[in-house]
Amino acid sequence: MTEVLIEADALQQRVAELGEEISADYAGRDLLLVGVLKGAVFFMADLMRHLAIPCEIDFMAISSYGDSTDSSGVVRILKDLDINIEGRHVLVVEDIIDSGLTLSYLIRNLEARAPATLEVCALLTKPERREIDVPVRYVGFEIPNRFVIGYGLDFAERYRNLPYVGVLDPARIRDAP
Ligand code: IMP
Ligand code: MG
Repeated sequence: MTEVLIEADALQQRVAELGEEISADYAGRDLLLVGVLKGAVFFMADLMRHLAIPCEIDFMAISSYGDSTDSSGVVRILKDLDINIEGRHVLVVEDIIDSGLTLSYLIRNLEARAPATLEVCALLTKPERREIDVPVRYVGFEIPNRFVIGYGLDFAERYRNLPYVGVLDPARIRDAP
């Protein structure tokens, strides 16, 4: 059984709040949301519907070498942006920040392209796991050090479709091929 950590309605309520906050902060500016595939897709789609400012979206796919539940910090770009971000107001949308290594690499990479502003919005963060300090402007929820699934988050590509965020039963991690 999956233990529910954040119910679907709590997720939706928090996403709406973040949307209002971001709309107020970026009033009068065009925003480019950069979603990190695949996990951020669900959060980003919902978040965007709460933005009251002109906005565009683009996506990056990155992969970190290493096993399925731990990040190595060695990151490879699998799909780059289509849009040139020079001079743009960029908001990176992430599903979860764990060690921070993936995001740290991504920020450095995007900064080199000279955006006007660059901020991060993460649905979830696990502060206990942080190995590197990354500036995150918007956070949905701080969660304990548990491996979570649902609302975009996967374990071996499964469970992204759950409408809530749940804690993966450790037996399923052990039994995974
Ligand atoms: P980091 O580089 O350690 O911060 O790892 C970030 C990435 O690892 C996220 O974008 C997720 O894809 C994945 N990840 C970290 N923690 C979890 C989790 O609890 N559930 C699912 N994926 C996770
Ligand atoms: Mg993942």
